[in-house]
Amino acid sequence: MSVSVEVQPRPHEDAESGYGGSAHAIQYHYDVSREFYRLWLDETMTYSCALWEDGDDLARAQHRKIDYHLAQARAAHARTVLDVGCGWGALLRAAANCAMVERVVGLTLSPDQAAFVRSLGLRNTDVRLESWTAHEPIAPYDAIVSVGAFEHFAKPEDSVADKIAVYRDFFRRCHAWLSVDGRLSLQTIAFGSMKREEASAFINNEIFPASDLPRLGEIAEAADGILEIVQVRNDRLHYAKTFEVWAQNLRAHRDAAIDRVGEDVVKRYERYLKQSSMGFYMGKLALYRVTLRPISARWATMAVA
Ligand SMILES: C[S@@+](CC[C@H](N)C(=O)[O-])C[C@H]1O[C@@H](n2cnc3c(N)ncnc32)[C@H](O)[C@@H]1O
Repeated sequence: MSVSVEVQPRPHEDAESGYGGSAHAIQYHYDVSREFYRLWLDETMTYSCALWEDGDDLARAQHRKIDYHLAQARAAHARTVLDVGCGWGALLRAAANCAMVERVVGLTLSPDQAAFVRSLGLRNTDVRLESWTAHEPIAPYDAIVSVGAFEHFAKPEDSVADKIAVYRDFFRRCHAWLSVDGRLSLQTIAFGSMKREEASAFINNEIFPASDLPRLGEIAEAADGILEIVQVRNDRLHYAKTFEVWAQNLRAHRDAAIDRVGEDVVKRYERYLKQSSMGFYMGKLALYRVTLRPISARWATMAVA
């Protein structure tokens, strides 16, 4: 007798790939309310670690970060640019303004973000409500940037081997999508001195469900033989400061925030912003900006005398 069992995806698991950060899990966080995020993010609505220099305000530091990634991905020489996890579109806007760029593609799982970016009417820009696991480019990309999305690719139940396999799948696809001289500029939070078992249940359950952070070694192992790591920097103190400024902004607009999303949500975000800032200050969390380029099959197989 054969028994057929219909396997249902867990609520936060991607039905197609089984990876972390399903559309449902992403919308839980990013579609809380755009007006709420507007109260404490900068005017570009960038929701990731900034790149600070003395005298910067938040918006200046976010523009600096965007310029950094576009430079690392060599967007000034690119005709096609992909942003995996494009948020509310600040990097897409900057990419579309690069002189040689003819086509910019942004991927997000948040309907609110996709609708907002479409409303901006950016030149030569296609924003897609689509996971990277489902993306099929119509032509190679000269530059790929992904800022703050990698944190969602694996889920807490994954074994370390499962996590590395997910990251390797992402890197393989980037390799296949990039032109020979292309670059990937990746930014992700990672575990620093904190062990995976010590991860905050509050953040895992109430802030970013179905998401798990990488370790630097897992990123390196996943890229091995596919993408060459050109540069890595750990800017954890930049994220401590970014979270601190977001927390100050939320404090300054607390009443308006409560009007929009209610006091429980505001308290939850206050706790998350404070806990995250402390985690980066103490080195429990790291913030990696990693530049990678495809390993050419031609060179990889050639013996060096
Ligand atoms: C923290 S936000 C960062 C947004 C933007 N890069 C920024 O710096 O403001 C994470 C983004 O990753 C996107 N994302 C997460 N998982 C994704 C996936 N599997 N495919 C495409 N986008 C994804 C989310 O929809 C969101 O836009």
